[in-house]
Amino acid sequence: MKNITKQKEVTKVFFNQVSGEWFERTYDPKGDYLKFPVNKLRKDVALLEIDNLKIKKGSKSLDIGCGTGQMVIDLLKRGYEARGIDIASKMIDEANKNLKQLGMSVGYNDVFNTSDLSDVKGDKKYDFVTGLGLLEYLDTDKELFSVLKNITKNGSYALVECRNKFFNLFTGNDYTLKILEDGKGDKLLKDFIDVQRFSPSRLKDVQKTISNTYTEIADALKNIKYKKNDKSYSKYPKLMNRRQHTPQELEASAKKYGFSLEYVVYYHVHPFPPFYEKEFPQAYNVISEWMTPLGRTPLGAATASAFVAILRKK
Ligand SMILES: C[S@@+](CC[C@H](N)C(=O)[O-])C[C@H]1O[C@@H](n2cnc3c(N)ncnc32)[C@H](O)[C@@H]1O
Repeated sequence: MKNITKQKEVTKVFFNQVSGEWFERTYDPKGDYLKFPVNKLRKDVALLEIDNLKIKKGSKSLDIGCGTGQMVIDLLKRGYEARGIDIASKMIDEANKNLKQLGMSVGYNDVFNTSDLSDVKGDKKYDFVTGLGLLEYLDTDKELFSVLKNITKNGSYALVECRNKFFNLFTGNDYTLKILEDGKGDKLLKDFIDVQRFSPSRLKDVQKTISNTYTEIADALKNIKYKKNDKSYSKYPKLMNRRQHTPQELEASAKKYGFSLEYVVYYHVHPFPPFYEKEFPQAYNVISEWMTPLGRTPLGAATASAFVAILRKK
């Protein structure tokens, strides 16, 4: 394995350490909403786009940084020739366990492999690639796009998820202060003016979304218990960097490697600043989830913590 940087080593150690708690921590299998099911949601957002793009069944896909394997398993169920790789071997052990538990017969035995992204081979092998919760941990965008360029067919799609830098406009937290201190606030606002370009939704869709969303929220809130979350999970190490992007920044990186950014879908829309989540997690998270459709509009750009970008290779 080449290029082991400090960041890569810390990332690998952390994800090996949290492999056992990852599914419970990020997919909310009990459905109690004490924690937002952030990874389940982004997987579902990406799958909906894959369905909308009408990618042919039987196409070859690779999920990079596949974690405990849920995306790959869902793609297998949809009839794709799906594979996943992850730098953390314990994540791959969990993914293999999950696949085995399903008792699904797959006609090849290398569904999940332990591998660093930079060791992935396969000249123009893949019809589409997904990378959810991956880019933020890499030192540079180049690490991802130089590999995507080699392994994807022309015309293929890449669904890449990023932490949303615009979210700092809403949170008013340490990230926001850092941007202002670094004199980068003006640039962020200028880019924000351009968000419509990445969310080509029409006004009538937005109106429908808003009225439906708030009716659903009102119904959901009737059943909420106001309970605090007493669970705690392993903390992200201080040494671990988690980069953020604007769609413009991602677009610029992707373009250098022959990918165009078609559009983005923001997800994990926040009804109130994140500070309140710990005070009333269930209500907060249920409202967040019902607001998901707003992520398909520019309204999601400031209030959602992340986005899935749909990129296409020329
Ligand atoms: C936040 S988790 C996301 C897991 C999964 N995609 C999901 O959405 O549930 C990020 C995953 O990327 C993996 N990862 C980070 N850097 C990597 C690299 N350079 N090569 C391969 N996998 C990497 C980590 O080990 C971790 O399992």
